[in-house]
Amino acid sequence: MIDHAIRLFKEYHEKNQNGVVLSSGSVKLLNSLLCSCILAKKYDEVKRVFVNFTKSYTIEPSLDTYNTVIQAFSEGGSSSSCYSVLNEMDKKGVKPNATTFGNLIAGFYKEEKFEDVGKVLKMMEEDYGINAGIDIYNIRIRSLCKLKRSKEAEALLGGCIARGVKPKAVTYRYLIFGFCKEGNLEGAKSLFKSMVNRGCKPDYYCYSTLINFLSKGRDFESAYRICKESMEKKLVPNFPTMKMLVEGLANSGNVEKAKELIGEIKEKFSKNVDLWNEVEAGLPQ
Ligand SMILES: *[C@@H]1O[C@H](CO)[C@@H](O)[C@H](O)[C@H]1NC(C)=O
Ligand SMILES: *[C@@H]1O[C@H](CO)[C@@H](O)[C@H](O)[C@H]1NC(C)=O
Repeated sequence: MIDHAIRLFKEYHEKNQNGVVLSSGSVKLLNSLLCSCILAKKYDEVKRVFVNFTKSYTIEPSLDTYNTVIQAFSEGGSSSSCYSVLNEMDKKGVKPNATTFGNLIAGFYKEEKFEDVGKVLKMMEEDYGINAGIDIYNIRIRSLCKLKRSKEAEALLGGCIARGVKPKAVTYRYLIFGFCKEGNLEGAKSLFKSMVNRGCKPDYYCYSTLINFLSKGRDFESAYRICKESMEKKLVPNFPTMKMLVEGLANSGNVEKAKELIGEIKEKFSKNVDLWNEVEAGLPQ
């Protein structure tokens, strides 16, 4: 697919040479070519295409181009190369934005280069005058949770709120998922509570993650409570999760609650009614 894209790119430009000024479409085409390399996880190809094509076809890279190149280095495990990209941007007078730094920070976290994370954050704020907004916090929180450092991520959320940056549902989603993955269900429950107390509305993923992990952890009472709340908002976790909860409730002496949930699901959502009838028939009486 990429070979095909590269060939198209070359053909397009060969037709447009002969002294004709290259259209600004060129840089857009180059950017989408670089993006397809990233999608195919061909990170070395991004570098090669970037260097070769900007030279061969004298294309002036845009901010998007640089952001894509930085993303490729970050995802490809060579974040340190991004410093030279930033240098080139400075020389060319292309000002990085929060996306540039977000990509860079995600890469350094992935490689567990925490000193570099600090360095980049400082540079972003002091040299480029960009304050960390919620998007940067979200990247940091998600990165820490991926590294199984969700306690640190929670502390970072505290710092975020203290600086007056308002967390979003997705911020809590990363944290709740992180806590659940690390088996800290109590922590996940209390995050959920503080989220609601702060007036942040849980989204589908917050609910379904919690219900799923609480059911797996056999905390069916809590899962039931959160599930009721979720269903009031017309957010219903997927069938396997709901089945696990319903059967868990029934097998731990809560057949009534299990049947009540099935009744509500069938009433509110016509999908899977047959499947639910089967589940219901299989419950202990
Ligand atoms: C780009 O690649 C082509 C084909 O691989 C090569 O012939 C050309 O010299 C390269 N250009 C630059 C500037 O590296
Ligand atoms: C940064 O710039 C790119 C390219 O113009 C744009 O697509 C992106 O949305 C910008 N990011 C932010 C956070 O404004």
